[in-house]
Amino acid sequence: MKHILHTQSFDRGYIGEIFALTNKIRELRKTFEGLEHLSNVLKHRTLYSFFYQESTRTRLSFEEAGETLGMKIRSTTDAAKLSSVAKGETLEHSIRILCEYGAAAIVLRHRDEGAADRAAAVVEKYGYTTSIINGGDGVGQHPSQTVLDVFTVEEHAKLPEHPNFLLLGDLEHSRTIHSFAYYIPRHYPRVKITLVSPPEIRIKEGILEHFKEKGVEFEEVNDLNSVIGDADVIYCTRLQKEYHKDASLEGAMKNGFTITTDVMARAKKSVALLHPLPIVDEIHREVDDDPRALYFKQAGYGLPVRMAMLCHLFGVKL
Ligand code: NCD
Repeated sequence: MKHILHTQSFDRGYIGEIFALTNKIRELRKTFEGLEHLSNVLKHRTLYSFFYQESTRTRLSFEEAGETLGMKIRSTTDAAKLSSVAKGETLEHSIRILCEYGAAAIVLRHRDEGAADRAAAVVEKYGYTTSIINGGDGVGQHPSQTVLDVFTVEEHAKLPEHPNFLLLGDLEHSRTIHSFAYYIPRHYPRVKITLVSPPEIRIKEGILEHFKEKGVEFEEVNDLNSVIGDADVIYCTRLQKEYHKDASLEGAMKNGFTITTDVMARAKKSVALLHPLPIVDEIHREVDDDPRALYFKQAGYGLPVRMAMLCHLFGVKL
């Protein structure tokens, strides 16, 4: 795989290879010798992190991942304001410049859905070797997040034969949900997917069509209480306020789409609670101390998982 654009291009074989590399990296990072070894594997390659939108985890973990593997890191944190984009440069021109500099990979975060595809199209049109990694394209996708999400499930969840994955929150605009939803049926063919959101921000039709094509059992509900007890995995997301202006949705999310300690008391003892972060109001702070709340571990896996994805892109075996 040359570019990482969306999770429809992932299969179990790819994810299995990434997880094997991730576990190897976790071991190597424990020792000085291991770190020394890692620090040479992508030496003399440059990683550009080109972020038009705010980010904490994705940018910092990709940069840390690249640096731990010996890459040079060049980073712009607010490309819309601080790079030539502010003067009117197109995404296509900016990408060509980074390719001309010899970028081995560009991690791109952009407000527009399809931005990473546009960047990859530039690379292919002009025959560059650069890899494009989609670090979140508007309301589109966030594929590397899915890899660490599934890694977290595999590490911590004890799933039954027919696991029930409950997706909660702003299902329409959350790119992490979109990436997760496209991949999950491929990894867990016997999954049931329960979609819980205010009706105004239900999941996109295209994803429901995907479930139908894959023969995945799913249901859409707007009452969390009636389904919480059946969930094996809960994947919760915040209201993506930056993509819509409907202030009434904030009230709607608070009434019935929030994870509280009472809600957790009704969930299975074995449930795995995931969230891509940042959490705003959709999970109460007291829930952070519930051992079933995995979101800090989940974020932490972002580092070795993204190191593994970089190694895989460049064919490094370790
Ligand atoms: C997510 C994103 O940017 O899509 N954050 C992340 O990368 N972990 C989730 C969000 O902003 O809600």
